[in-house]
Amino acid sequence: MMNLQKITTFTAVMTIVVLIASCTSEEVKNLDETLFEESTATGLTYYRNGEVLEGKSPSPHGSFKLAFNDIAAGALNSEGELDEGGSFPTGSLIVKEIMTGGELSLIASMKKDASNDQSAEGWIWGEYNPDGSVAYSVSKKGKACTGCHGGDPNRDLTRTFDLH
Ligand code: HEC
Repeated sequence: MMNLQKITTFTAVMTIVVLIASCTSEEVKNLDETLFEESTATGLTYYRNGEVLEGKSPSPHGSFKLAFNDIAAGALNSEGELDEGGSFPTGSLIVKEIMTGGELSLIASMKKDASNDQSAEGWIWGEYNPDGSVAYSVSKKGKACTGCHGGDPNRDLTRTFDLH
């Protein structure tokens, strides 16, 4: 009898664990899809009028254009930059369109959403190929990103304004 009870309890617990795990991975998948969609939406505001900038050390990405959604654009000063010591409000999206041979080759995004489970240092971090496939999932919680971006915390972990 005891054994049957244990088996039943074990099965119930495992079912719940599996359900929670699949919900979480579904949420992560949706979050990657949403971040890609928002990053490729029309109506973003371009830094330096959409000029292609050369990546500067310690950049891992090469040439790029930089774009902001309306919330992020609203935090920029008259030079189009974030003031030193400033921070971006929740919902800000910053998109780095990486260009190779004049073509878009990778999209690197950071979105301010400190209360999100996938966020690190206040931002969600993701990279996508132009066809929407995931190159660096939000589920990795920016482990490959925050070390370098956190190296200069003066402008809310963004690096462009000090280099370009
Ligand atoms: C070794 C350093 C380094 C690593 C690692 C790194 N970045 Fe960056 N990133 C930079 C630098 C430097 C810039 C400024 C623009 C440039 O010259 O490339 C930048 C710019 C950006 C920008 C534009 C906003 C800004 O900060 O200026 C985004 C978005 C971005 N990176 C996303 C990511 C993501 C996502 C990852 C992780 C998958 C990542 N980066 C990893 C160095 C790094």
